[in-house]
Amino acid sequence: MKRLEKIYEGKAKILYTTEDPNLIIQYFKDDATAFNGVKKGTIVDKGVVNNHISSVIYQFLEKNGIPTHFVERVSEREQLTKKLDIIPIELVVRNVVAGSLAKRMGRLEGEALKSPILEFYYKDDDLGDPMINEYHIREFGLATDDEMAVLKERGFKINDLLVGYFKERGIRLVDYKLEFGRNNGQILLGDEISPDGCRLWNIKTNEKMDKDRFRFDLGKVEETYQEVYHLICDR
Ligand code: TMP
Ligand code: ASP
Repeated sequence: MKRLEKIYEGKAKILYTTEDPNLIIQYFKDDATAFNGVKKGTIVDKGVVNNHISSVIYQFLEKNGIPTHFVERVSEREQLTKKLDIIPIELVVRNVVAGSLAKRMGRLEGEALKSPILEFYYKDDDLGDPMINEYHIREFGLATDDEMAVLKERGFKINDLLVGYFKERGIRLVDYKLEFGRNNGQILLGDEISPDGCRLWNIKTNEKMDKDRFRFDLGKVEETYQEVYHLICDR
């Protein structure tokens, strides 16, 4: 399937139409941004790495009963996916205190949570993706109550699957962001799962293996993305 017209360009991906109106191509760029686009840069071959990692993870999730938009990886930087009407909610799942949760609650990074926390953010770049709750979601019609029940159930199920998946590969899944969309009356997991939208720590050393290396100039950015690629894709 060939890509036709560009329909959307985001910070890390470009979306194209295909001959099939139900299918689109996601092209993964090397561009990296942080802090709502304030910091900009490039992570060499990030697009290739994230395309491969996300493809492998979505196939694993599909095999375990999670419906996703993923159809197939078609090239080094492209994957064919089902077209979604994106629900404008970023679902953040947390297993360990880090990032904005550490700041908001005044806790030290690294404290394991007794049970996972789900958080909702309004997907709107101009507003800087503010945190919202289910009353905002209902009031402003971002998703129906039935859809929210599905999102929460999927969030917890995906988390159970991914915590074990990463653990087997020597990685602690600290937190991450998921996006969902509507397709033919079904809710599918969309976007990508990669070191760009997850906090991944080395299980033994707690070394950061994700975009925090870029956000906070920790060095070895490309090397770390490659390491995660090998841990996930060389099996
Ligand atoms: P946070 O601690 O900054 O709220 O981030 C929680 C997780 O969500 C972290 O793994 C990074 C991911 N995330 C994104 O993928 N995109 C975003 O815009 C933000 C704010 C977080
Ligand atoms: N993805 C967001 C941005 O590009 C936030 C982040 O990842 O830090 O600004």
